Amino acid sequence: MTDSSSGQIDHVLIEDRLFPPPAEFSQQAVFSSQAQYESMYRRAAEQPEEFWRSEALEHLHWFEPFDEVCRWDPPHAEWFVHGKTNASYNCLDRHIDAGRGDRTAIIWEGEPGDERTLSYAELRSEVSKCAAGLKQLGISAGDVVSIYMPMTPELAIAMLACARIGAVHSVIFAGFSAESIADRNNDAGAKLVITADGLYRRGKVLPLKETVDEALAKSPTVEHCLVLRRVGNDDVSMTQPRDVWWHDVVDTQSDDFPAVPMDSEASLFILYTSGSTGKPKGIRHTTAGYNLWAKRTFEWVFDHREDDIFWCTADCGWITGHSYIVYGPLSAGATCLMYEGAPNFPAEDRFWELVEKYKVTILYTAPTAIRAFIKWGDEHVDKHDLSSLRLLGSVGEGINPEAWMWYHKKIGNERCPIVDTWWQTETGGIMMSPLPGITATKPGSCTRPLPGVVPVIVDETGNAVDDQHGGMLCISKPWPGMLRGIWGDEDRFVQQYWSTVPGKYLTGDNARKDSDGYYWIMGRIDDVINVSGHRLSTIEVESALCSHEAVCEAAVVGRPDELKGQAIAAFVTIRDREPDEALRQELLLHVRKQIGALAQPDDLRFTSTLPKTRSGKIMRRLLRDIASGNEVAGDTSTLEDLTVLAKLRDDEG
Ligand code: WT7
Repeated sequence: MTDSSSGQIDHVLIEDRLFPPPAEFSQQAVFSSQAQYESMYRRAAEQPEEFWRSEALEHLHWFEPFDEVCRWDPPHAEWFVHGKTNASYNCLDRHIDAGRGDRTAIIWEGEPGDERTLSYAELRSEVSKCAAGLKQLGISAGDVVSIYMPMTPELAIAMLACARIGAVHSVIFAGFSAESIADRNNDAGAKLVITADGLYRRGKVLPLKETVDEALAKSPTVEHCLVLRRVGNDDVSMTQPRDVWWHDVVDTQSDDFPAVPMDSEASLFILYTSGSTGKPKGIRHTTAGYNLWAKRTFEWVFDHREDDIFWCTADCGWITGHSYIVYGPLSAGATCLMYEGAPNFPAEDRFWELVEKYKVTILYTAPTAIRAFIKWGDEHVDKHDLSSLRLLGSVGEGINPEAWMWYHKKIGNERCPIVDTWWQTETGGIMMSPLPGITATKPGSCTRPLPGVVPVIVDETGNAVDDQHGGMLCISKPWPGMLRGIWGDEDRFVQQYWSTVPGKYLTGDNARKDSDGYYWIMGRIDDVINVSGHRLSTIEVESALCSHEAVCEAAVVGRPDELKGQAIAAFVTIRDREPDEALRQELLLHVRKQIGALAQPDDLRFTSTLPKTRSGKIMRRLLRDIASGNEVAGDTSTLEDLTVLAKLRDDEG
């Protein structure tokens, strides 16, 4: 342990298990030797112009060539300047032109069990009809379209149709409230909202259109609402002439609508992401750079092969769905599984049933899901044949080493590499991840940066820290997939990402680099706990708790303490056992043994649930208020289950 007066973060958890890639995997992999990665990484870092020029020429279609690779005027980057391309063309026409139109693009299964398969040619027809429908509704290049839809093929079709005509999509996760939709419509000046008559969730129908109607009453810029019939809900109210049905406006169009050549830097989409406080930010991504980044990171990290069935379990309402359901895999000509519903409907084995049924080869999911599977019990997994799987991925939060081990053993049968992918809405695509054919993995580490990513870890004065010390993770060089701004808020863009360390992108995460050059994400900068002058990362204490067999999930926060500055409070969910005082003592001792007395929680509470965002991240900020005995302050609109706060108070009593 080191002196933390410099603002560095102490690293307390030792994880030395190492999992080299299986030989049979490496032999056929996209990256099959370390030297290949090293030389590519070096080329991207030392000759970025040359590197990205050839990547862009090879992997995107150009209606008009670009005349400059990257114009970097910090914090503003333009990539492939003056070139013209189209993301929908890259995702669809490119494959069809190459005679691969019959390949399956999307295999879809609805929550009730209905199925649909779309080839690339069929998908292009649907996208073309939708594009023509959007035109008919008065949408043209540069207009913003909000999409609030269930996870149906039409959600991807709507996104690609916007891209085809150069409209800017803003997908709003279909769990958000009317208030949140209205805020996003107004911030973006949306002209159209695309929604459905309803959404299946755990066997029930949620009335999406009703929620949208409530939002539209407060969304003056919206001229039309396009409604897909998904659940056959005849009660939906259609306000004339504002509201129109998808089957009237889209299905009736010609299926030949050419993609409009778009400037490389034309906005492709905005995606709202909640800051920890304050109003959501509309992260803006542009056409060529984002498209290239999504495609190449998909191919590198997921080792994409012709015969793969790729399943990313995210919703298209998050960046993960944008980059690894739609733009990445489709640009690469992959076959994707898309699933509409909940992982525990009709039973807790739904995911494994899908893997078996569709012979999924690559599964990309989130730690919050993995922890739920662990809690639900191994018997749901054991019922199914998962032998088609060859690669597993994780994203969204740090994966605690014990959850990693469960994923490795139970789902991967100890033969599938795990790619723990670190990235953000802002980065457009994966930034750090193992390359499954070559990287020996360590549970809990996202290992090394991809070609084109130059990370640096700095202390509070902006100076690089030594290896082994935790500090703020920044990215030193521009990369094609980087955000281009916050919609309508240049000041916040500069302030939030580029002011702490001038000229470098501030990720907002803390990280540490170990002596092998592997990176370990230590959680958000705001989540650091300062105990008697030692700055600790929440994830390390949480991982120590999770390594006890009774613990399912743990969230650790600091609360003010007169003596130590901050004391550690832990919130823990338990499986297979009744929580009692003996278990509490056992857990405290366990943390003490694992990482030392300093990190032993002062306060440990058992709880039935943890507060999470709708994308499954633990909201430590709310727990901080509860642990400190304060009223919960700040924005709670992103909380997934609003009853959780009351439950936490009950658990206390
Ligand atoms: C934040 C970004 C990445 C797409 C989905 C979330 C955390 C994400 C990891 C990981 C540790 C991770 C970070 C990051 N995060 N992946 N593999 N290990 N932390 O996108 O909602 O923009 O969240 O999620 O804190 O900054 P997002």
